[in-house]
Amino acid sequence: MKLREIYICALCGARSFQWKGQCPTCGEWNCLEPLQLKDGGRKSESLAPRAERLIRLAEASDFAGAVFSTGMEAFDRILGKGLVPGAAILVGGEPGIGKSTLLLQIAGSVAASGRRTIYLSGEEALSQIRSRAERLELLHDNLYAMASSQVEDIFPLIEGENAPALLILDSVQTLTSSRAEGLPGNVSQVRAVATEVVERCKKQHTAVVLVGHVTKEGHLAGPRLLEHMVDTVISLEGDRQQVFRLLRVLKNRFGPNQEMLIFQMMEQGLELVEDPSTYFLGARDASLSGTAVVMAVDGQRPLAVEIQSLVTKSHLTIPRRTGLGFDVNRLHLLLAVLEKRLRLSFAQADIYAKVGGGMRLMEPGMDLPLVAAILSSYYDIPLPERAVFWGEVDLNGQIRPVAGHVVREGQARRLGYHPVVCPAAGDGKRGFHTLKQMQQALFALPTG
Ligand code: TYD
Ligand code: MG
Repeated sequence: MKLREIYICALCGARSFQWKGQCPTCGEWNCLEPLQLKDGGRKSESLAPRAERLIRLAEASDFAGAVFSTGMEAFDRILGKGLVPGAAILVGGEPGIGKSTLLLQIAGSVAASGRRTIYLSGEEALSQIRSRAERLELLHDNLYAMASSQVEDIFPLIEGENAPALLILDSVQTLTSSRAEGLPGNVSQVRAVATEVVERCKKQHTAVVLVGHVTKEGHLAGPRLLEHMVDTVISLEGDRQQVFRLLRVLKNRFGPNQEMLIFQMMEQGLELVEDPSTYFLGARDASLSGTAVVMAVDGQRPLAVEIQSLVTKSHLTIPRRTGLGFDVNRLHLLLAVLEKRLRLSFAQADIYAKVGGGMRLMEPGMDLPLVAAILSSYYDIPLPERAVFWGEVDLNGQIRPVAGHVVREGQARRLGYHPVVCPAAGDGKRGFHTLKQMQQALFALPTG
């Protein structure tokens, strides 16, 4: 067996024959890791089974009828219809965010439906898993668990008669494959563990969930590598200080992507928020100045979120600008636009702005509500109680349309918001073209 070493970028998966400090493809630093190819690199890494004969596509087996429920209706919906036999799902998220909890809950409910389910943990002792399952009332006859850090240990247990309907691997970074070199968690290990398990599960028509830890920066060890190997990529996000968790579908071969669910981390595990549309408004007091509601869209889903601002007299030489839950550059930019286009002066004002409910917004549609909240606090005049906003603001003070207008409008109507403050539409019936127009309309300023 000839050993040849190549280097692979842990972030973008690019290959290189030499070690370099910086990945030539994605430009990140210190991310190239050695990958040993034991058979000289010729082994095909494709997971598609080798075709033995040519068949009519219509005669190939499909699993449309064999899809089974996770026991969690909302989760089935975001997967497409449910779990597809042989499908591989990657669930990524920061440590402590609730991945093990979520998957134990899913394992428990699949087991409760009478399907054999195996939960393999490389990081927790069986007693720990058991006590958690017991507390969450998930112990069922069909729920099996195993604690091991060697991936080969599971192989005989997922073959033939014993093949479970669902296998959960928690996590790919804590398991070791004897076919790869190095410590668990490095790129070759993660790749070997994932490849071997996914290949076997495909053959046995076992649905498999791989749990992957991501760092604060959102990197999964070898993220791109794993994303190619699986059919569905899900990320569980949130702030450990907050109770809510966002579950996002980033890739899906079997159903819609860009779907999302909101959960709350409770004593009893993760609990689905049935109607997330106004969840982030919390206990908003609309009679105060400085608060605006944005109809944001996350993926496909419209979410009403509160945006707050506070404009106060500054006692500092350089006034403060603080933004929480969004990119603070957006605040700097909008303040410059307000100073120039509306001739306001913030030179003596400290300005704070935050997104309510601990949510993070990264969309251009929050410009207009942010401006409205700032102006509302500046004039100390509350915005109309049921007003809702979205729209992007240009450097020249124009209001620009943003994606998802129809979804936002439909949801605003459904929730009874009025007035709807958004970019002007073609028919000229509603909306504003410029910040000046919006300022005059909302704060009853004289025109001209
Ligand atoms: P966990 O699922 O272990 O996170 P991960 O697998 O992503 O690392 O969840 C960890 C946190 O969730 C832990 O700090 C405790 C909290 N938690 C609850 O609040 N309620 C529960 O019912 C459970 C099981 C966990
Ligand atoms: Mg865990």
